Amino acid sequence: MINDKKIIFSGIQPSGNLTIGNYIGAIKNWVELQNDYQSLFCVVDMHAITVKQEPATLRKKSREVLKLYIASGLDPEKNIMFIQSQVPAHAELGWILNCYTYMGEMNRMTQFKEKSTKQNINTTVGLFDYPVLMAADILLYQTDLVPIGEDQKQHVEITRDIAERFNNLYSEIFTIPEAYMPKFGARIMSLQDPTKKMSKSDDDENSYITLLDDPAKIERKLKRAVTDSDTEVRYTKEKPGIKNLLDIYMSCTNTTVTQAENRFKNCGYGEFKQEVADAVIHTLKPIQDRFRELDNDKDYLDRILKQNAERASEIANRTLAKVKKKVGFVIGENK
Ligand code: TRP
Repeated sequence: MINDKKIIFSGIQPSGNLTIGNYIGAIKNWVELQNDYQSLFCVVDMHAITVKQEPATLRKKSREVLKLYIASGLDPEKNIMFIQSQVPAHAELGWILNCYTYMGEMNRMTQFKEKSTKQNINTTVGLFDYPVLMAADILLYQTDLVPIGEDQKQHVEITRDIAERFNNLYSEIFTIPEAYMPKFGARIMSLQDPTKKMSKSDDDENSYITLLDDPAKIERKLKRAVTDSDTEVRYTKEKPGIKNLLDIYMSCTNTTVTQAENRFKNCGYGEFKQEVADAVIHTLKPIQDRFRELDNDKDYLDRILKQNAERASEIANRTLAKVKKKVGFVIGENK
């Protein structure tokens, strides 16, 4: 705990343009948590390079994600918001934890299996090792809660196992973190295949809406969203496309299922989609305006990046020093 507040850590990869799925499923919830917790929000660029990235794009995206965090209402003074690679402790602890993680448990990671079969050639060791770096992210800050989507649950489980193993071997070095699933909006689905999560790295641009899409694009993508051959706007598993659009609508307008269903009772899909588009445009407008302001103030962002990397390092290095001592590294004055 810092200042008597529980600690939250979460992160997003700068591997594409942030989507409304990232906003509704993650950032919007973080905005609500930031007053009650000491929060760290990371841009995990070291995770992003587990698959091939174009260097100039990665650099640009890392800064962009941070600007979008701020534009979405996350306060860079209250929270610690930083870029992972600017805090070397992540790589250092990641290595050490590798040596306390078993191949057997890593072989069970379902996300690696999915990602590596999709790529099938030249899968890197980094991609396999991804969960250990994530464990380092979380454990460096003595994190209590990790807000994540369903797909990251297994990674928090392995983080807990590694932490418990380390603590049992040495002493209570790490806080054992818990996954924290948001009550609503954990999963916004692809607009083109509503059985799949909306992903910023999807090849099909029509499957997602980014936080920086202009109104015309948002309308176009929503009009093309896959629905079904029925005409009724109802919130049910049997209508995954409509359900997804309703989830987006409800989140943007802060309404309930009943309110939304009533609103669209006698609506055709065309009219419904237009309303969803209007709600998304309205929600994104202030974020886009603020983003543009930040875009024009490079010095401000540089300052935030530097300050926050220092604040993060200070906490991370405290944990790392304890770990190094326990595992037997020569540090400073000890002989
Ligand atoms: N693996 C997470 C994702 O892709 C991102 C991430 C990296 C993360 N480190 C983290 C999330 C630590 C929570 C805590 O969604």
